[in-house]
Amino acid sequence: MSKKVAIIGTGYVGLTTGVALSYLGCEVTCLDVDAEKVKTLKAGKCPIYEPHLAELMDLAKKNLKFTTDAKEALAKAEVIFIAVGTPSNADGTPNLTYLKSAAQSVGANIESPFVVIVNKSTVPIGSGNWVESIVRDAYRGQNQTQKSKFTVASNPEFLREGSALSDMLYADRIVVGADDPKAVEVLRDLYKPLIEQTFLAPGFLMRPEGFKSVHFLASDLQSAELIKYAANAFLALKISFINEIAELSEKVGADITHIAKGIGLDSRIGNRFLQAGIGWGGSCFGKDTAALIATGQEYGLNMPISKAAKDVNSRQRIRVVDILMNELKILKGKKIGILGLAFKPFTDDLRDAPAYEIVQKLIERGAKVVVYDPVAMERAQKEWKGLEIEYANGAMEVFQESDAVCLITEWPEFASLAFDEAASAMRNKFILDGRGLFEQAKLQKLGLKTTILGRSS
Ligand code: UDX
Repeated sequence: MSKKVAIIGTGYVGLTTGVALSYLGCEVTCLDVDAEKVKTLKAGKCPIYEPHLAELMDLAKKNLKFTTDAKEALAKAEVIFIAVGTPSNADGTPNLTYLKSAAQSVGANIESPFVVIVNKSTVPIGSGNWVESIVRDAYRGQNQTQKSKFTVASNPEFLREGSALSDMLYADRIVVGADDPKAVEVLRDLYKPLIEQTFLAPGFLMRPEGFKSVHFLASDLQSAELIKYAANAFLALKISFINEIAELSEKVGADITHIAKGIGLDSRIGNRFLQAGIGWGGSCFGKDTAALIATGQEYGLNMPISKAAKDVNSRQRIRVVDILMNELKILKGKKIGILGLAFKPFTDDLRDAPAYEIVQKLIERGAKVVVYDPVAMERAQKEWKGLEIEYANGAMEVFQESDAVCLITEWPEFASLAFDEAASAMRNKFILDGRGLFEQAKLQKLGLKTTILGRSS
């Protein structure tokens, strides 16, 4: 009998989880308060730009429902995933408003004999118990016809935007934290097709060669919650470390790509997340590192390493503006082209996108800014209303009469632009490559002066 699953929150974590589980045969109902979003989803359209999600939604549609009605989604559910946002407050602590209302909604609507409530959102350490108490209070408030037992588990997500589905179907590991062993068994059973890789791989998301199983790690609640923070903070640290070494390598005339390769060949270090450049953005690294620091401070710990990762990363964006100031001396009235707005390629997500801060600082210094992104333009025009920006109709337009062009997001299509045309269109021929995407020698042959962040010029 297929499990009845409810997902609260249809963002890229909730929707990816719901679509994947429905593809694996669970009966999934996704609940969201955003009626517009639910309407789009009911029409079979995907409101987020996530490769292959719409196709898998279509394959799984017989097991997939969307609603704004909590009772419809939660009453019969045996497993309820809470996948709502936990954005940062100004002081770095996570805003738990949405998590609290989701927990209240669960308590007020569950009816199944035994329900496992799963925190999928990144939640502060110790939230599992807090969520359980909110569910209990709300549950007591409803006149339940039959006794429901429930328990809370933590099942952190490790999904990267742009590859969220493959990160779920072919995960490195599934982590489940729970104090009740029954909750672990329910989730182990739910994930069985993933753990054993027995599901039919979708044609557009083939199983990697030789990929046979997924590690299933059961732990206690706090450990599972801390695994999530520690994983993201470490990945963020790894990137900030290579960026710190990149700045030194610029000074001494070394090549950071060789350094990254040279240390990455050590199996204890590994070669991923050593790409020097403008550094990290996105909805997780900044938020999770800040939350980890805030949690440490609650316990009187200073967390110097996590703090250093954030500080180095913030500086990378400033360095872009410094390099432009150094090159152009005066930014007032100068025209700067920006290639790429999304925080990374293959997504339209602008949360903590480095481009925002860089554009803001350029405008503050009196520059005129023209931007282009293959996917995130519409979102930027909606979310960045406060910024006086010219939105180009194509990548080549950002070179027109520009005094400098900066590559901020390494969309592959930018690597094959007509740089000879670009060179003749520019007023001042200066390219700042923030991600090491361009072939410096090729651009220099066309008379374009280039600086690559992390490479000696
Ligand atoms: C991240 C984690 O990878 C994922 O496990 C977690 O669940 C959510 O947060 P995401 O933020 O979607 O995923 O993207 P990711 O691919 O990790 O990149 C994060 C940022 O780091 C991007 O801005 C990217 O440009 C930057 N990055 C990544 C680097 O600057 N250098 C690298 O080598 C890798």
